[in-house]
Amino acid sequence: SHQKVPKEIGLDHSLELLKEGYYFIMNRSEKFDSRVVQTRLLGEKTYCLIGQEAAELFYDTDKFFRKEAAPVVAQKTLLGMGGVQGLDGDEHRHRKAMFMSLMTKESLKEIQSIVKEEWTRYLEAHEKEVKVFEAAKLVLARTALRWTGVPSHEHDADDWASKLSPLFEMASKVGPKHLKSRWSRVQLESRLEKLVKQVRNRSLDVERHRAFYHVVWHRDENGELLDPHIVAVEILNLLRPIVAIAVYLDFIFLAINDYPKEAELAKQGYDERHRFIQEVRRYYPFFPFAIARVKKDFMWKGYTFKKNTMTLLDLYGTNHDPELWDEPHQFMPKRFEKWEGNPFDFIPQGGGEFDIGHRCAGEWLTVDIMQVTLDYFLNHVNYELPKQKPDYRMNDIPPIPGMKIYIKH
Ligand code: HEM
Repeated sequence: SHQKVPKEIGLDHSLELLKEGYYFIMNRSEKFDSRVVQTRLLGEKTYCLIGQEAAELFYDTDKFFRKEAAPVVAQKTLLGMGGVQGLDGDEHRHRKAMFMSLMTKESLKEIQSIVKEEWTRYLEAHEKEVKVFEAAKLVLARTALRWTGVPSHEHDADDWASKLSPLFEMASKVGPKHLKSRWSRVQLESRLEKLVKQVRNRSLDVERHRAFYHVVWHRDENGELLDPHIVAVEILNLLRPIVAIAVYLDFIFLAINDYPKEAELAKQGYDERHRFIQEVRRYYPFFPFAIARVKKDFMWKGYTFKKNTMTLLDLYGTNHDPELWDEPHQFMPKRFEKWEGNPFDFIPQGGGEFDIGHRCAGEWLTVDIMQVTLDYFLNHVNYELPKQKPDYRMNDIPPIPGMKIYIKH
């Protein structure tokens, strides 16, 4: 039977999205008792999807495409124009392979030792009280610059951190913060473009085994070098999210603060820490939804999906779907003992396949940096959490709890 997708009436619901934040899609899914709901956002008809089966649908590249799928405001801040996120088909596969080729075992191992070094250096240079989020952004900016091989001076790291973080901290904001985010992107892209040109005309030497060199000389599926602007966008697709891991590191400390017994367990070994980290990525909100568009009209569960319609897949909501998770609003790392590694049920960094789909290229790297940081603080640093009750808001995207720790030297 042909049915229309359950539809929320009204001209536009963008303001409710700002108010309800991470609950926006869950609320509508519950209200209409449906895994797909139609609404209007930014003046456009939009489908909202939630759950494992919906994720399988969403990542079917015969049914959805990414070209210009994201609203222009997100392209001007978070994503940049012309990067891998907006590619489809062969062009996407080829570009994505470039990203995945950077994620070798050795290079992931190396980034873990860089992070550890940078944490040590940071703690040695700083006073007793450390604000985790601020510290992590600097540590991660230094890590990202070293790991990618983007030429920079020791003292530039602060500046890089202060321009990279607005790209994810303020991308979803309106007004002056949005403008700051856009301006940061403009500055960083032009800085990187200059470096690309210098490497190409051999006036600047960079380390050859690193990401920057690799992307500068990458050839597309037609054998052409990438436009210097696209190189800049893709390098920012490495630098920006590495610094954004600061949000997860802050949540790690919030979890240690709120669930001390779980933190005690995580001291014991790699597997315990891994489950703790997975639960941090499941439980706390970060990336609200992934965005695509319907490629051609199709039917799903009796509902007609219309070509070109913007479609959001609820990442937070799927990670809290009671059909998939027992007591989804409890922090229980133990649940990951039984998790079978399905690519569509646990999707904080997107779902599906890395190579043919748009799943986050940096997921392993993220988990590794979280693992090494958690181990470092639980087992190698003498620190204390002052009494605090930091809160985060479910309508801030991303939410940042702002944890403090005291280091005991
Ligand atoms: C894509 C989340 C860290 C590189 C994505 C997507 C999400 C995501 C939700 C989009 C999935 C989709 O559109 O279907 C996160 C979160 C991170 C993180 C929460 C934690 C900080 C990283 C890191 C890197 C990275 C560390 C690189 C070093 C990318 C790239 C894409 C992507 C290149 C585009 C993939 C594509 O379009 O094929 N990420 N990410 N991310 N991420 Fe991440």
